[in-house]
Amino acid sequence: MQLWDFAALTYYRVLDRFSGTLNALAIQTLELRPGEAVLDIGCGTGALIPALVEAVGPQGRVVAMDFSSKMVAVARKRSRRWPNVEVRQADACATDHGAGQFDAATALGAFSAMPDVPGAIANAAEALKPGGRLFVFDVRLAGKTRTTRFLRAAYRKIAGFSGADVVDELRNVFEQVEPIFKVEGETTAVVMARKVTDMARDSARTPSRPAG
Ligand SMILES: C[S@@+](CC[C@H](N)C(=O)[O-])C[C@H]1O[C@@H](n2cnc3c(N)ncnc32)[C@H](O)[C@@H]1O
Repeated sequence: MQLWDFAALTYYRVLDRFSGTLNALAIQTLELRPGEAVLDIGCGTGALIPALVEAVGPQGRVVAMDFSSKMVAVARKRSRRWPNVEVRQADACATDHGAGQFDAATALGAFSAMPDVPGAIANAAEALKPGGRLFVFDVRLAGKTRTTRFLRAAYRKIAGFSGADVVDELRNVFEQVEPIFKVEGETTAVVMARKVTDMARDSARTPSRPAG
């Protein structure tokens, strides 16, 4: 977590100025409508918040959350002029965001930086209403090439990457997981996951028992 506190106070303020294209893709893909409630998981400095507010309008609701107190401080400062934005400091792996409260959610570069990816994804699914959609952009380092091996080791060291494949974990929980576009070498995932019903997710999480 110290890494992200450090990032919030240093390079992230510069980096988040370049997130416009990705943010626009998230908004466009989610097709957010005025009045909807949206959750931004691992929101960092809150670079996506202004676009989310614009998309859901004054009747909508934006909840952004992050574990790092420094990231949260920047995101809160950035969003203080909007009464319908709440920035929470919490661990996405262990937090109940509020069952069935959200029409949509985003996780940009967030899940792979978390120690319990299945837990964080299950919590995201829990927070969505039936029909809810989740836009995910993340690294995907499951490959066995020299480059992915190197990136995996570096990411493990720097950001505590657990080795979990975000797309596989999404498929374990969500009924529909569609690539928005294919990325060469598959080191990056840009996907939309949809929660169709509650039942499919519950059965995905229930450990299967041996027959008989
Ligand atoms: C690569 S940054 C992405 C930030 C932001 N989504 C963006 O696109 O600029 C990853 C973020 O995940 C947050 N994070 C890491 N582990 C977390 C956890 N367990 N719960 C909530 N946030 C976490 C970090 O603090 C950091 O802000």
